[in-house]
Amino acid sequence: MADKDMIVVDELVKRFPHKDKEGRDTEKTAVDGLSLSVRRGEVFGLLGPNGAGKTTTIRMMTMQTRPTEGRIFYDGRSTEHSPVDVKRLIGVVPQHVNFDQDLTVGENLELHARLFHMGKEERRERIAELLDFVGLADVVNDGVRRLSGGMKRRLLIVRALIHRPRILFLDEPTVALDPQVRRRIWDLIRQMAHGGVTVFLTTHYIEEAEALCQRVAILDRGRLVALDEPAKLCDRLGRFTVEWDERGERQCQFFAARHEADDFAASLDPEGGILIRPTNLEDVFIARTGRKGGL
Ligand SMILES: Nc1ncnc2c1ncn2[C@@H]1O[C@H](COP(=O)(O)OP(=O)(O)OP(=O)(O)O)[C@@H](O)[C@H]1O
Ligand SMILES: [Mg+2]
Repeated sequence: MADKDMIVVDELVKRFPHKDKEGRDTEKTAVDGLSLSVRRGEVFGLLGPNGAGKTTTIRMMTMQTRPTEGRIFYDGRSTEHSPVDVKRLIGVVPQHVNFDQDLTVGENLELHARLFHMGKEERRERIAELLDFVGLADVVNDGVRRLSGGMKRRLLIVRALIHRPRILFLDEPTVALDPQVRRRIWDLIRQMAHGGVTVFLTTHYIEEAEALCQRVAILDRGRLVALDEPAKLCDRLGRFTVEWDERGERQCQFFAARHEADDFAASLDPEGGILIRPTNLEDVFIARTGRKGGL
């Protein structure tokens, strides 16, 4: 394990019991031999279409479900042998909001802080500081039920940060949020990373991964199909994309050099226009998974 690695995931497999069409008991493989490592202080993105295995991966990495096979190490400690140490190291923002809706914002956070045995004064200070940080200080005594979707998402982040974790996991942190709130959450994530927190997030918004992540892994049907810095993944596919319409369908071809793209474009005779542009992460996503990213 390299010293710069904060998390090492080694040959992770998750199989769920499953009934096939005839009602027979079988198994479904959600994660299929996944290995990756996350460097200290980086923002790492796990991308993949619906059902690719992103949440299952995060749930195994954060010890909410046991892997069927494989091992996970944090700073050299395995989740199997040092579960208590690992739980202190990590904070988790789940895909679905799971507060106690009958309690207030402050009560929900108190409950969580107590789980980590924080003293009364420390709890009070930390909760006030974080609510202020995400712009929610005014709603500390409001019932969670009354918050908007964007406020609940920010509150999930606060809850995950209370015990000062060194690694923050976020599963689809900005799903269904308006562009302004999404950008606010991106700023929060960046500020966390600047403060030295290692961030592991899943998303199917390609734009989110491009905006935040130093490296991304693309998962498809439980398997890793790409892993690198976004720019390197684009370079590998071909830095230049020629895009055109053919019988109402968008077509793309990728080229390493601009002159190759120009030559190819000149050879086309499409009904509509031809676009020559830089290749982006969405192109990589579609090329590697055969599916569209985004909504
Ligand atoms: N508890 C479970 N029992 C049975 N099958 C499950 C369970 N959890 C997940 N699966 C299956 O595992 C596969 C991966 O699901 P997972 O939720 O990890 O995907 P995902 O990449 O997070 O998808 P999404 O983008 O929709 O959140 C899916 O086929 C799903 O139906
Ligand atoms: Mg998911």
